[in-house]
Amino acid sequence: MKITIIGSGYVGLTTGACFAEVGHEVLCVDNNEEKIARLLKGDIPIYEPGLEEIVLKNVASGNLRFTTSTEEGVQSGEVVFIAVPTPPNEDGSVDLRFIEKVAREISPAIDSYKVIVDKSTVPVNTGEKVAETIKRYAPDSDFDVVSNPEFLREGCAVSDLMNPDRIVIGANSDRALALMKKVYEPFMAPILVTDINSAELIKHAANSFLALKISYINAVSAVCEATGADIEMVAEGIGADKRIGRAFLNAGLGYGGSCFPKDIAAFIAISDQLGTPFDLLKEVERINVTQLERFIDRIRKKLWVLQDKKIAVWGLAFKPDTDDVRCSVAIELVEKLVAEGAQITAYDPQGAENAKNLPIGSKIKIADSAETAVKDAEALIIATEWPEFASADFFAVHKSMLAPLIFDGRNLLDPRKMAQLGFEYHGIGRAPVENAPSTENS
Ligand code: UGA
Repeated sequence: MKITIIGSGYVGLTTGACFAEVGHEVLCVDNNEEKIARLLKGDIPIYEPGLEEIVLKNVASGNLRFTTSTEEGVQSGEVVFIAVPTPPNEDGSVDLRFIEKVAREISPAIDSYKVIVDKSTVPVNTGEKVAETIKRYAPDSDFDVVSNPEFLREGCAVSDLMNPDRIVIGANSDRALALMKKVYEPFMAPILVTDINSAELIKHAANSFLALKISYINAVSAVCEATGADIEMVAEGIGADKRIGRAFLNAGLGYGGSCFPKDIAAFIAISDQLGTPFDLLKEVERINVTQLERFIDRIRKKLWVLQDKKIAVWGLAFKPDTDDVRCSVAIELVEKLVAEGAQITAYDPQGAENAKNLPIGSKIKIADSAETAVKDAEALIIATEWPEFASADFFAVHKSMLAPLIFDGRNLLDPRKMAQLGFEYHGIGRAPVENAPSTENS
């Protein structure tokens, strides 16, 4: 099928590449000329495992093309996806100006029946607004609006897109639905058909539920710390119940990234506006903030004075396998430690360059390896659970540090092993070493 994607950012580009990979003819549009020029040269602006390979392959085969022209995009596609940013306003509500702008811009270019698909994360009722806008600017145009929320995770976007748990299609027209089913046929995944409003709501409700799971386990981790129980064991025990599931029960420094904080705030704002306040989600946010504060408190208590302490931080990206440092809890942690006078040397396998460009980038040292980051450090903090940190040479790390103290904000390491190696180890909600089960036993 001929598919157009308007907005070639994280979601737009990876979705376009995956559609091309399954055989569709895809045209990706973006108004950022520099980005399109880079993409035309085969230069992929983001790090995402497997993405570069499929972009290059499908550009070479002619299945994936790029343009800055919205008109060309609309006219060449039977199905036109909107994948532009929906950033937050100051009050947490969603800024829909880019969606509205695209709706206006595509209107004059509609020259035959089009399915206009909203892939961006938007508040419920946005589809109706998009349809209303297109009708206002192109009263005679023939089109249907569909909501098709995206559930990909950064760091595994390509594999999530190629093997989705489900595909949600919110459509109020059979004609549009039939075309959407054809788009997704090659993925051989379960398709859930809903009305447009429900599809839009599914996205915010799903992300909020996942964030709720994280805050839930983080709140339990605080109880573990107060009682000597071990959160890893507790999470296993809870998660083994199929009705609950183990996923998203990893205690840590809290959730970050460009989706959860924004989407939970948006869902709270949407519910408030609708007169159906969702106070449970306000508590989810509060626990997320407290989790980082509790962690910093423990570091403060151990180090006594933070001023001039040399602290190594492993991890700056908001999660492993991405170079994305936007709304990263690791960055927030570093900012707070620097504000208290600590001297930070940080390392991240992919996120270092992006971190350098943040205001905090000039106030910390960025090391070029995990090993060099810990030289003469008085404490090591693990802020992102990159697998390579777990397999570091901890004999060498111990030798290199001034004091063998580890704060593991992602429970990546085995407390017993660390103790055997001579480290003082502090995880999140972990039992004292003498009671702690080793990772191998768990
Ligand atoms: C999230 C959702 O998982 C996707 O389904 C959704 O499509 C996406 O948002 C979006 O709305 O675009 P993403 O933000 O890429 O994906 O990353 P996640 O893997 O969900 O992680 C989010 C945050 O939660 C990270 O900071 C991570 O460290 C944290 N997390 C995750 C935990 O603290 N504990 C866990 O058990 C899982």
